[in-house]
Amino acid sequence: MSREMSPIEKAKFVAAKQATEHVESGMKVGLGTGSTAEWFVQCLGEMAREEGLKIKGVPTSKRTGLLAQKVGIEVITLEEAKWLDVTIDGTDEYDSDLTLIKGGGGAHLREKVVATASERMIVIADASKKVEALGAFPLPVEVIPFGLPVTQGLIEETLIGMDVLGREVTLRMKGDVPFVTDEGNFILDLHLKRIANPRQLSLVINQIPGVVENGLFIDICDAVIVGHGDGRVTTR
Ligand code: 5RP
Repeated sequence: MSREMSPIEKAKFVAAKQATEHVESGMKVGLGTGSTAEWFVQCLGEMAREEGLKIKGVPTSKRTGLLAQKVGIEVITLEEAKWLDVTIDGTDEYDSDLTLIKGGGGAHLREKVVATASERMIVIADASKKVEALGAFPLPVEVIPFGLPVTQGLIEETLIGMDVLGREVTLRMKGDVPFVTDEGNFILDLHLKRIANPRQLSLVINQIPGVVENGLFIDICDAVIVGHGDGRVTTR
């Protein structure tokens, strides 16, 4: 750490650093996406270099893949790995059941595939990510570009019957054009404010034609390492 960190950055860093303790030489590790996951990739690269550990990483995004290569982690595909020992990733929200909303960085599709192919998924987060009820963070839904208005209309119609507080659906933009995921798809953000039944919502949304995957992670996360601005780390 060559410069003074803000409390939020420090919280992400200490959570990421602690997560490296769950990685041993010979492991195949899923590498998440986002600012917290990037701290983890950097810490893991440093640990592997200093301790001469042999670690193979499966990145959940092109961005993470580039960083992993830069810090000296051997990058392999999920096809090559087949199965992973652990995935370490960030989150946008988590609740007391360790249900997550992910996809703020637009990578939740690959993140869910990689986490599901892992023995364990450990989330790293600053304390602000804990919520009583999920939904203040807009729920990302990855959709294919073909027939976008039809898919969006079906999602809006479906939300009328769901126990949520907000129902606005917006197309995620990058400047003047739609944000495009690593899989070549678009993202619709669902501004639900409060999700009463995440399991039901996830099932219903994923049944809509054109939807590839939503950002709810249910029964996937095993533990959350929470970093605090004063450098403390707690685990859930
Ligand atoms: C990317 C994600 C990220 O894990 C999530 O957005 C958290 O990011 P950050 O660590 O930057 O707060 O799901 O798709």
